[in-house]
Amino acid sequence: MACRIAIDGPAGSGKTTVARLVAQRLGISYLDTGAMYRIVGLHLSRKGANVKSSSLKDYLKDLRIEYTDGNFYVNGTPVGEEIRTPEAGMYASLYAAHPDVREFLTRIQKEICKERNIVAEGRDIGTVVIPDAEVKIFLVASPEVRAKRRYFELIAKGYKVQYEDVLREIIERDQNDSKRDIAPLSKAVDAVEIDTSDLSIEEVVDMIIKLVRERCWEKF
Ligand code: DC
Repeated sequence: MACRIAIDGPAGSGKTTVARLVAQRLGISYLDTGAMYRIVGLHLSRKGANVKSSSLKDYLKDLRIEYTDGNFYVNGTPVGEEIRTPEAGMYASLYAAHPDVREFLTRIQKEICKERNIVAEGRDIGTVVIPDAEVKIFLVASPEVRAKRRYFELIAKGYKVQYEDVLREIIERDQNDSKRDIAPLSKAVDAVEIDTSDLSIEEVVDMIIKLVRERCWEKF
């Protein structure tokens, strides 16, 4: 049996860093589902797709997303840093509420996670993508702590941003992601919640690895 680890939580909760490190320590695959919503968000915004349109299927027909060793390719071209801008995050969050987008990506994600040792992170991994995951984690942190992390991350990448704008964007995205009708950001009933506000990355990673060893002991 495979060991599938679902890590969910809001923007800036530390999901991506933690999930990547857990996968690295265990030597297993890593899936960043937020990157997939960013790819689709950028694609749809470039095509001028109306988020309120009843169907977005036509816009998704010519979009082929492939996943190899943790990297994404769109119609054969490797995906780069363009998906990491705050605008791409906002488009991702907006279009992620559309049923056609969720259906399109959930199907691909379920396929990637099938019968494989994997750490997958996002908003609905433990509730929708892998509802029977062996380990489910829900990371939380205060909006201020998350905004501070995002702010320093963006500054380090050379973006000129203001802390107040980043905080506003985080709160806005929390609203979008938790209030939507389909697959909203929510903690699975059987997920273990970890508040990362006052913990180091290493401490969070160690806590998750301990849980993995308890639940998938025959593998790790
Ligand atoms: O994790 P991230 O910031 O890269 O995600 C970008 C957006 O994608 C996020 O605001 C909501 C959406 N998303 C989602 O709806 N479901 C997921 N499983 C992952 C991301």
